[in-house]
Amino acid sequence: MSQKQYPLPRDPNENTTQRREAKTSVSPSDVDRRTFLTWVAGGVVSTGTLLTMGTGALRLLIPNVHYGESPRVLLDPPGHYPVGVTYLDKHRVYLIRKGDQFRALSGRCTHLGCAVNLDASGRGFHCPCHGSRFDEQGEVLRGPAPRPLPWLWVELAVDGRLVVDRSREVSESEHLQV
Ligand code: FES
Repeated sequence: MSQKQYPLPRDPNENTTQRREAKTSVSPSDVDRRTFLTWVAGGVVSTGTLLTMGTGALRLLIPNVHYGESPRVLLDPPGHYPVGVTYLDKHRVYLIRKGDQFRALSGRCTHLGCAVNLDASGRGFHCPCHGSRFDEQGEVLRGPAPRPLPWLWVELAVDGRLVVDRSREVSESEHLQV
């Protein structure tokens, strides 16, 4: 009598284990890929960190200072300027020539620093911002300017050009004789 053979039932646990192993088993190519991605990620983070540190170090080396305009203004030689008043717009300075004498008056209002204009008469100055007025010597005729326009030091540079030092105030009687 022949016996019919049936396949043994599968162990459900065995199947699960095999499946789990299949899922967790790592092929050499997976390891290589994972290692490669780890290196790339590490490289990106390291590069970013180094760049940040490098930028910070560079900023420490460069002083965070704004060098403003020099108070010393180098002009043309004396012969370039006519007798009378010449306004040096760029420097806000009035250069006054009387014969061979030169003087310089600040054109910056002593209230809040606006540029003062020469009166139409040529005998005094007025400020367009808040209405201060000054006479031709820079004395205040009407506020709110709290003090006169300052007279500035004028000298000759070694190359024969005029220099006005806006940081050096002088009395109104001082002048440069050329
Ligand atoms: S800035 Fe000249 S009057 Fe105010």
